[in-house]
Amino acid sequence: MKKLKIFLLISVLGLLFSCTTQNTKLNTESPYRKQVDSILNLMTLDEKIGQTVLFTSGWDVTGPSMNDNYKEYIKQGKVGAVFNAFTTRYTKELQQIAVEETRLGIPLLFGYDVIHGHRTIFPIPLAESCSWDMKLIEKSARIAATEASAEGIHWTFAPMVDIARDPRWGRISEGAGEDTYLGSRIAKARVRGFQGDNLSKENTILACAKHFAAYGAAQAGRDYHTVDMSERELRSIYLPPFKAAVDEGVATFMTSFNELDGIPASANTFLLKDILRNEWGFKGFVVTDYTSINEMIPHGYAKDEKHAGELATNAGVDMDMQGSVYLNHLKLLIEEGKVSEEQINSAVRRILEMKFSLGLFDNPYRYIDPEREKETVLSKHHLETARKVARESMVLLKNENHLLPLSKEKKIALIGPLANDEASIIGNWSAAGDRKGAAVSVLEGFIKKIGEENIRYEKGCEIIGGDFSRFNKAVEVTRNSDVIVMVMGEHQNMSGEAASRTNLSLPGLQRDLIKSIKKTGKPIVLILMNGRPLTLTWEDQNVAAILETWFPGTMGGHAVADIIFGDDNPSGKLTTTFPRNVGQIPVYYNMKNTGRPIDPNKPDEKYKSKYLDVSNKPLYPFGYGLSYTSFTYDVNINDKVFRPNSEIIVSAKITNTGDYDGEEIAQLYIHDKVRSITPPLKELKGFKKISLKKGESKTITFSISTNDLRFYDQEMNYRYEPGEFELFVGGSSDLPFTHSFELMELNK
Ligand code: BGC
Repeated sequence: MKKLKIFLLISVLGLLFSCTTQNTKLNTESPYRKQVDSILNLMTLDEKIGQTVLFTSGWDVTGPSMNDNYKEYIKQGKVGAVFNAFTTRYTKELQQIAVEETRLGIPLLFGYDVIHGHRTIFPIPLAESCSWDMKLIEKSARIAATEASAEGIHWTFAPMVDIARDPRWGRISEGAGEDTYLGSRIAKARVRGFQGDNLSKENTILACAKHFAAYGAAQAGRDYHTVDMSERELRSIYLPPFKAAVDEGVATFMTSFNELDGIPASANTFLLKDILRNEWGFKGFVVTDYTSINEMIPHGYAKDEKHAGELATNAGVDMDMQGSVYLNHLKLLIEEGKVSEEQINSAVRRILEMKFSLGLFDNPYRYIDPEREKETVLSKHHLETARKVARESMVLLKNENHLLPLSKEKKIALIGPLANDEASIIGNWSAAGDRKGAAVSVLEGFIKKIGEENIRYEKGCEIIGGDFSRFNKAVEVTRNSDVIVMVMGEHQNMSGEAASRTNLSLPGLQRDLIKSIKKTGKPIVLILMNGRPLTLTWEDQNVAAILETWFPGTMGGHAVADIIFGDDNPSGKLTTTFPRNVGQIPVYYNMKNTGRPIDPNKPDEKYKSKYLDVSNKPLYPFGYGLSYTSFTYDVNINDKVFRPNSEIIVSAKITNTGDYDGEEIAQLYIHDKVRSITPPLKELKGFKKISLKKGESKTITFSISTNDLRFYDQEMNYRYEPGEFELFVGGSSDLPFTHSFELMELNK
């Protein structure tokens, strides 16, 4: 009875104060401050600590799990948030314990890794980034939030906004690729999608910008490994997508597993206080990544868990995911004066503010609605959108003699370990995706498109392993075919977390299988599914067409068929460079020059910055991607002199000169020729995606302001310098500069 009364008091307070709707721009002062403080006044220290504890339920564990009795912890008020719990039935059961069986009845927050869809699985984030389509990316996150929120989830651990320049790192699949400008735009689109325009709506969820920071720069691409870089590199390349997420009102941040310049991210006051709170004014709460507080011990930074807890709290970590450190040690740390209670109050305030903003104090069960769950999950509209996003995410890497698209009358031999796959096709982090049943394989997509009679299928080999006993069968099915389509790549678990690789070629016997099939002399189309760039130098030389589909999601098979048989025209462009071999890594488009660049007219000259055995150029550069049609560009610039307080306007007339309607992603690159910090060779500064009918022309414009020309100078000021700049607009990053302008001295 007493418990119920306190909860009622909280509810009334909630109702009184929540009449104003909370929009998603959370970086202003919270409108819930008063009711949060009134609850805080009722709380014991133990109850406060409980709010800073996040535990996994028994489902979908991604690391060492320390607690099997999370239900008992909830009952004792020792847990404020739970992750890996969803479905209306399960979340209701747990929420009831928190609301009805704890003294204050404070509702739980349910978190989950809703990374690229919830039940309807969209292409992996790296794939989606290749669409360069902000509206579509936002929509995919919106749908993910709609489905997740219908199943009791309040909070996603996404978007991952880590810039990644090393394809050995398996988590490159979870982000938006290698470019900071594009990555920042995508970070905003995803935050908008998850959080919608108003967090108090039932179909919006809290987003979480992760992993703060520089996790993608792990040495040698080995997951969780050391990161050490200059502050300039950190601020120029790795931080802007996080700042973009803050500007978009992201509700929460997650720290990263790595150390940065000798200090683990979860104890890094430079990152968590100086930058995140003081410079950027972030008002949401910060959660650790999994047991990263405990991991400070093997890092050699803390002598024991209590010490680690002290370091994390004092650095500004509000919530401990899974590590039990706050639960077990915070009280003593406060009693000993090593951590102030005010620090814990601030953390609890931020956490409760989010619970208020979701409306959980009005109704803790408002996200738990079986009717909405039934209507929403895997709805027709969601599946259709997933199919569209998958098509837009695919990148055509090669298409010799216009082999693609295939006519629907052709006889097809469909071969390969991923051709009839319904598990890997939805990729890694497809946690709640329905693996059996909902996902459409390529075989199924082809049958639906052209009928069973024109297709002969054989697996040929496994993704990994050395069994070539089915090679003969694979050769056999090619017998009466006109064209051979091979579906190959990685298993879904070969990218994502803890999935670093040093050999990036097609795993197992897959290349050997292509070699055997190639002997038939028939044209081969290679359809790839993979979570990272692969080294495809041999494949590029030996097959006629290559379509990169990444892991395209639930509707993947239909989307592949749409592209292969020409119902849609591929338009995706790479957001990550494909190296020729692993030795070239890191290789990315915006590298710097050296004092000894290669002279293109004397490629063999000694004492130049190059390899003896391979070109400096990657196999497929950033921004690259073919279409069934072709485009020409006619670029103009309004002035050769950039005067103070003005802009440079670049216009590009783009014409579809081929035989198909199509979409083109036009990219603007700029090069600052001389400045007080050496510049990258080029930097993406704008892009536009346009759709052009066969023979049609359209003119697009880009305006360049001085803001686009800023960099971190020697004193770490973000500014621009006068001088000459070059630029080009085109359909890939590896094109030559065509125009230039001069930025005048400001006082001229
Ligand atoms: C990952 C995070 C994820 C968390 C919870 C960790 O292992 O690094 O990205 O959000 O698990 O599942």
